[in-house]
Amino acid sequence: MNKFARIIGTGSYLPPTVITNDDLAKTINTTNEWIVARTGIKQRHKVTNETTCDLAEKAANRALEMAGINVKDLDLIILATTTADKIFPATATILQTAIGASCPAFDLQSVCSGFIFALTTAEQYIKASAANKVLVVGSETLSRIVNWNDRSTAVLFGDGAGAVVLSGSDNTGILYSKLFSDGKYLSSLQVSNNYINEVGFIEMSGNEVFKIAVNRLSSLAEKTLKETNLNSNKLDWIVPHQANIRIISAVAKRIKTPMNKVIVTLENHGNTSAASIPLALDTAVRDGRIKRGDYLLFEGIGAGFSWGSILIQF
Ligand code: UT7
Repeated sequence: MNKFARIIGTGSYLPPTVITNDDLAKTINTTNEWIVARTGIKQRHKVTNETTCDLAEKAANRALEMAGINVKDLDLIILATTTADKIFPATATILQTAIGASCPAFDLQSVCSGFIFALTTAEQYIKASAANKVLVVGSETLSRIVNWNDRSTAVLFGDGAGAVVLSGSDNTGILYSKLFSDGKYLSSLQVSNNYINEVGFIEMSGNEVFKIAVNRLSSLAEKTLKETNLNSNKLDWIVPHQANIRIISAVAKRIKTPMNKVIVTLENHGNTSAASIPLALDTAVRDGRIKRGDYLLFEGIGAGFSWGSILIQF
């Protein structure tokens, strides 16, 4: 039996087209100042022709390269996405063929907490020795479901992908993970279609989501440190879901962690849902901030609501 699931490679990808806040202000009633002050977002990336699988493929190949393993050694692929390329087959199976893997592959849909749910699922496979090498990807083309005329949501979201390769380890890795769901908040944040006639768009009661996000994530961050007996000054980095700088800083403040120990990348790409945590992780691994042995806290919440946290020794 493997004792731990350990991240051995990270990768990410953002499509080249950038939409700045000023670009949005040309078509909707908003300003760069409002968006930066209320969210921290300065720009977002948007696909032109690329699919969710295309973004996932680029992030996955970078993670596999860093992990230094042969793609044929993968035992499982889990793709967290809210914007699957087709109703079926699973985008993960399209990705499996694109990267040349031959293992089982499935999609997991938990919106902005998708990466945390997928990583926790992969961890369970590894700890049960049902898999030893697992690729977990978060990839989104949210621009396809954003109502570009709705200023209350259009300024928030972006496209992108992030990936990790996990391996069984006897020494260290994921130390703790906890997931929650509470489905009574359907109308607070949803895409209102039901697949029958049309593609729907994101609809959100932003202020309500904001308050619940701060509340649930702060309590969960405290609980995670308590249950792992980790004093917050031992925590090296928070790698949060990148939705809003005010949510991120409220959670950090609650667990007495200064903002210079929080990985923030949302100014560059906005809320990329299931891709946001692995995008932030990969950025900070590659720029040298996150080092082997560091204690990392992942936390995030999304529609449902579903939320969760993971504590890792990297
Ligand atoms: O990934 C997980 C899911 N999503 C989230 O975590 C997002 C959670 N929510 C939020 O991040 C914030 O609630 C928002 C950024 C969406 C909104 O910020 P807020 O401080 O909660 O603003 P608000 O919704 O209370 O709106 C304040 C004002 C309103 O005007 P009035 O009624 O005070 O006159 C809005 O109409 O700001 C107005 N407003 C805007 N003004 C300029 C809303 N969107 C915009 C905009 N530009 N883009």
